[in-house]
Amino acid sequence: MKKVCIIGASGKLGQYLVQHALNRGYEVVGVCREQSVAKLDRFQGRITLIPGPTNDREVIRRAVDGCDGVLTVLAPWGVQQYATGTAQAVLDFAPPDARLIFSCGWHITRDGQDVYSWKLRTFVKVFGAIAKFLRFADLDDQVEACRRIFASATQWTVVRGSDLEEGESQGLPVWASHVGDPLLASNLTRRIDFALFMVEALTNDELIQESPAIAGNTHAPSSPPS
Ligand SMILES: NC(=O)c1ccc[n+]([C@@H]2O[C@H](COP(=O)([O-])OP(=O)(O)OC[C@H]3O[C@@H](n4cnc5c(N)ncnc54)[C@H](OP(=O)(O)O)[C@@H]3O)[C@@H](O)[C@H]2O)c1
Repeated sequence: MKKVCIIGASGKLGQYLVQHALNRGYEVVGVCREQSVAKLDRFQGRITLIPGPTNDREVIRRAVDGCDGVLTVLAPWGVQQYATGTAQAVLDFAPPDARLIFSCGWHITRDGQDVYSWKLRTFVKVFGAIAKFLRFADLDDQVEACRRIFASATQWTVVRGSDLEEGESQGLPVWASHVGDPLLASNLTRRIDFALFMVEALTNDELIQESPAIAGNTHAPSSPPS
């Protein structure tokens, strides 16, 4: 792994992705919206930035050129199929042998075998309906984006995050194939570790065409005693 592209680099998750990728010595190309470029000032001179909407196919085509890996923050903002447009462009333009890592939430299911709490089901239903009504986000867009990724023959991994929080790293999150696995009892992941898992996935062949559901490793030494 030499060169990676980070799509959605200016967001909270994206900035951690940039840091982890630089820590590993990767050459980094970042894509973010024009108005968010300043959020990446501290990386100036260390990354190549391509400003633009992440569902702009020309922007993505240029950004992923020659990359061995692409880390994509899938964000279902607005009601113009933003996440689907982003995912499709990455699938279409990334080099065929590139590792493609996408982020989403636990609510995405690949095979319908995930077991959800009533709380998560209610949240998705209520938040999804309100967000769509107010036209600021469309959860179905992320569902469609992932459906296309799951159907693709590329070397993808869809990392499904639990609830997120800020804080120091607790180490690499644990993962399971399905939500509901007792391993994922904590239901909380530090954002910095979500990003760590995505960057580690770039070089973990075990995760090719997998959709791991992750949760913080609460047994890691850095966590306070319970
Ligand atoms: N938040 C949670 O609790 C949670 C839980 C599970 C999984 N996840 C997943 O984690 C990932 C990152 O989530 P996050 O909450 O940490 O968000 P984030 O990284 O802060 O932001 C996500 C991206 O959305 C962009 N964005 C924000 N508003 C936008 C708009 N109106 N139009 C277009 N792009 C916009 C941001 O770019 P700018 O810098 O340009 O604003 C950023 O690149 C997502 O894939 C999400 O599904 C989140």
